[in-house]
Amino acid sequence: MKIAVLPGDGIGTEIVAEAVKVLNVLELPLEMETAPVGGAAYEVAGHPLPDATLKLAQQADAVLFGAVGDWKYDKLERALRPEQAILGLRKSLGLFANFRPAICYEQLTHASSLKPELVAGLDILIIRELTGDIYFGQPRGRRTAVDGHFPGSEEAFDTMRYSRPEIERIAHVAFQAARKRNKKVTSVDKANVLETFQFWKDVVTEVHAQYPDVELDHMYVDNAAMQLVKAPKKFDVVVTGNMFGDILSDEAAMLTGSIGMLPSASLDKNNKGLYEPSHGSAPDIAGKGIANPLATILSAAMMLKFSLNQPEAAARIESAVQSVLAQGLRTADIWSEGTRKVSTREMGEAVVAAIAADT
Ligand code: NAI
Ligand code: MG
Repeated sequence: MKIAVLPGDGIGTEIVAEAVKVLNVLELPLEMETAPVGGAAYEVAGHPLPDATLKLAQQADAVLFGAVGDWKYDKLERALRPEQAILGLRKSLGLFANFRPAICYEQLTHASSLKPELVAGLDILIIRELTGDIYFGQPRGRRTAVDGHFPGSEEAFDTMRYSRPEIERIAHVAFQAARKRNKKVTSVDKANVLETFQFWKDVVTEVHAQYPDVELDHMYVDNAAMQLVKAPKKFDVVVTGNMFGDILSDEAAMLTGSIGMLPSASLDKNNKGLYEPSHGSAPDIAGKGIANPLATILSAAMMLKFSLNQPEAAARIESAVQSVLAQGLRTADIWSEGTRKVSTREMGEAVVAAIAADT
């Protein structure tokens, strides 16, 4: 099993190093090859996604990605900015389904900004469509308005757009994921106002006919944003478009205490995927050895489950994470009175030790 390891910038290198240690202790036949991406690649190759890195990612069975970006690249032209690497990878690997589980670990119930009883036992899965919607719809641009409220003035516009196959494939992914969980899908839209999302709702409803064992409900995005902080445990699988998913998945992330706990998977039609923590390169804490590596370690577990068909190995990682939390070990972002503050490396090594102790 070939894994392309792309650490990237900032804390990316620190957290990926720990995830690699965890993968190594599992003693699986994994072939890991590392390549630069983002700002790190710009420094050595003048481009955030060099051909050699892209080729490695395309030839691998899965990609383990850290994070990219740094303030020092903000002045570069858009095509050379580190963030273009992740967009380029998603596009060239055909990744269309973004899985973001939001799980509130028992030991971190008090780290959430919500009341403990609202988040205790929370385990929801947000599935965000990645290729369509207003992020990529054409035409887009700036022009002088010929109509509207202020004709003759400068204006900007984007196009919200979804095709039937795009909606069908993400709906299938959501219903199939629900079958492995609690058989409940909430499709989030804005069908009351937007034609794109009336179409979304219609197509999801049609696909649902093939999954009579799964319960489907529809919710407007504004209500979904409210329900996520009011009664998040009412959800199980949430499926939505690119923009609503971007926003709701960050909202859901905060229910669990820290963005440093949240893994993600971006999958193509054959379950080949890119696995990365939900957070960015955290330039404010990079190089200090204090970043939480658990989101990346849990992303590696998702990789074993979804792309490499190693569910037992994934379960070993997940239970090791629970075990280090139960031991009271905490990186700074999840630290609270009475727990032991540890570094990135100490946390990674504690997970390795917990796996070794479990075998
Ligand atoms: P960020 O997620 O990097 O950081 C937000 C806050 O969370 C910071 O205070 C940071 O210290 C903290 N944080 C993030 N991960 C943490 C961890 N593992 N442990 C402890 N604390 C953690 O988002 P921000 O600051 O908006 O962006 C920084 C850079 O990252 C930018 O260049 C941005 O474009 C890039 N970025 C890259 C992403 C990716 O590679 N997929 C995703 C999001 C942002
Ligand atoms: Mg986002």
